Amino acid sequence: MNLTNLQRILSDLFLGPVRYFDSIGSTNAEAARWAEEGAPDLALIVADEQTAGRGRMGRRWYTPPGAALAFSLILRPEHLPILSAKQADLSLAVLTRLVALGALAVCDGLEAYAHARSSSLQPQIKWPNDVLVGGRKLAGVLVESHWKGDRMLALTLGIGINVAPLSIPPEDELTFPATCVEAILGKAVDRWSLLRHVLTALLYWRNKLADQAFIQAWESRLAYKGQTVTITALVSGDAREEHLEGEILGLNPSGALRLRDSLGDVVTLQSGEVHLRPVDRSKK
Ligand code: BTN
Repeated sequence: MNLTNLQRILSDLFLGPVRYFDSIGSTNAEAARWAEEGAPDLALIVADEQTAGRGRMGRRWYTPPGAALAFSLILRPEHLPILSAKQADLSLAVLTRLVALGALAVCDGLEAYAHARSSSLQPQIKWPNDVLVGGRKLAGVLVESHWKGDRMLALTLGIGINVAPLSIPPEDELTFPATCVEAILGKAVDRWSLLRHVLTALLYWRNKLADQAFIQAWESRLAYKGQTVTITALVSGDAREEHLEGEILGLNPSGALRLRDSLGDVVTLQSGEVHLRPVDRSKK
């Protein structure tokens, strides 16, 4: 790929300027630099390879050349339906919703891509940020915010999708079972066409971020609904971890996860820093 061809493929999408790199440390790090220099809303950074890709919770994100999609979109807060009224209000709920925007766009984009090729797949969202197919992780989303003093300059929505088998990290680096789009569809995938579908869905849902339709679409993709999961949440400002086991009921109107705990009480969880795992009853 090169910048000219990528711009041509994305030309009918309402995006900002595009930067393309054959290899880069991290598209999110590049987005932070560009945002600081004044990148406009919806500026896009795409890389074929990342040598220092960032995952959630300080983890590494594996992006070898020629096998994955790795890109970051810069979002200016004044253009976001959920932030424009009160820009200072970057709550956990808003951050979680932006993470969901990325995950929902990947789900819809994957489905549209597969449909256009007479295939199908059923992507789901492991709350808050992973895209799963068949119970295996296929994509991840990392949202980072950039500040000047107490003013938020921009948000970066970074998305990584495993496309070809080589993009699946080595077994010893996996914290959750992984897969890739080609393994699911059983055929070669045109990464750039898939990128186009995902960005189309992302632009669609970005305009609807504040709508209940967004929460409904997100909830309809929720993995493990009706199943019991264990959740480990980091208590913010603290090194402590909290453990919770419960049945996933769905989302509340602001996108928090609703669970029924072992006492039958309904609890809601509004944190980005969580590990969510299905409970394997057969091992109990
Ligand atoms: C996760 O841990 O699941 C989130 C992974 C996010 C990876 C993407 S790849 C593009 C962007 N650049 C990065 O360095 N990370 C994100």
